[in-house]
Amino acid sequence: MNIKKILQNSGIEKFESEIILANILRVNRAYLHTHPERELTQQEYDEYFIKIKQRIDGIPIAYIIQKKEFWSIDLKVTEDTLIPRPETELLIEIILEKFSQNKPYRFLELATGSGAISIALAKGHPNFDITASDISEKALNIARKNQNYYHIKNIKFIYSNWFAEIKSTEKFDAIICNPPYIPENDPHLSQGDLRFEPKIALTPGKTGLEAIEYIINNAKNYLLPTGWLFLEHGYDQGEKVAELFQESGYEQIKTKKDLKNHPRVTFGSVSDVQS
Ligand SMILES: C[S@@+](CC[C@H](N)C(=O)[O-])C[C@H]1O[C@@H](n2cnc3c(N)ncnc32)[C@H](O)[C@@H]1O
Repeated sequence: MNIKKILQNSGIEKFESEIILANILRVNRAYLHTHPERELTQQEYDEYFIKIKQRIDGIPIAYIIQKKEFWSIDLKVTEDTLIPRPETELLIEIILEKFSQNKPYRFLELATGSGAISIALAKGHPNFDITASDISEKALNIARKNQNYYHIKNIKFIYSNWFAEIKSTEKFDAIICNPPYIPENDPHLSQGDLRFEPKIALTPGKTGLEAIEYIINNAKNYLLPTGWLFLEHGYDQGEKVAELFQESGYEQIKTKKDLKNHPRVTFGSVSDVQS
């Protein structure tokens, strides 16, 4: 069977069947349109239908092709990692704006997953020295693969249950985190892609704020006197998270909105000195 025929009536969205086939053939989607007569081998044909079936069963496209673009970087992702979301790019924008000078900065990223945030920051910024941690060894393995693929030298990936393995003598210019923040009874957890992502990456407990609160209350012990804490949170958690920053004594607290106009990232500094 050729490319043109196989793409007809796959039972899923046409662009998704194209993504799957292009991934199997290791070509881009444009190639499929310029080479409609290209015949598939039996192996390619079998792989295509296995993957189409997976998609019909609801498995996220990123897990099927084991790839997701974040900050224009193709990252390996598997069922052991969260699929990086476009709204998380807001964290990168805010941090690059704040740390735009070409000085040596030390960052700690908690809950790195596939390594998306740290890799986006480290790539092209050799002046950043990043420690990135996660509680999932399986996710850390994927993060290290992504690091090696892009020959990134300025990230150290380590296992840690939040701050447990971070020495309190280490002090950072910024602590950055996209933690699990969905309340455990939220119906979205049993819908769409979320059904297939690691529960530990999605929910910290009953209120959804458990991890955020813990990080806010402990981050200061690991920040320089001029250091900053940056947290992604749920679209409806902005006010509460800003309140937690305030109660914990942070200064210069701000919440920024994502492209869908949802409050998405809140940050604050240990000091009230403008930097
Ligand atoms: C929302 S995901 C974020 C992944 C990645 N930073 C991103 O933005 O795509 C949350 C991550 O928190 C990690 N995590 C959950 N509990 C943790 C804990 N107690 N200590 C460290 N990491 C934890 C999960 O393994 C998961 O990788």
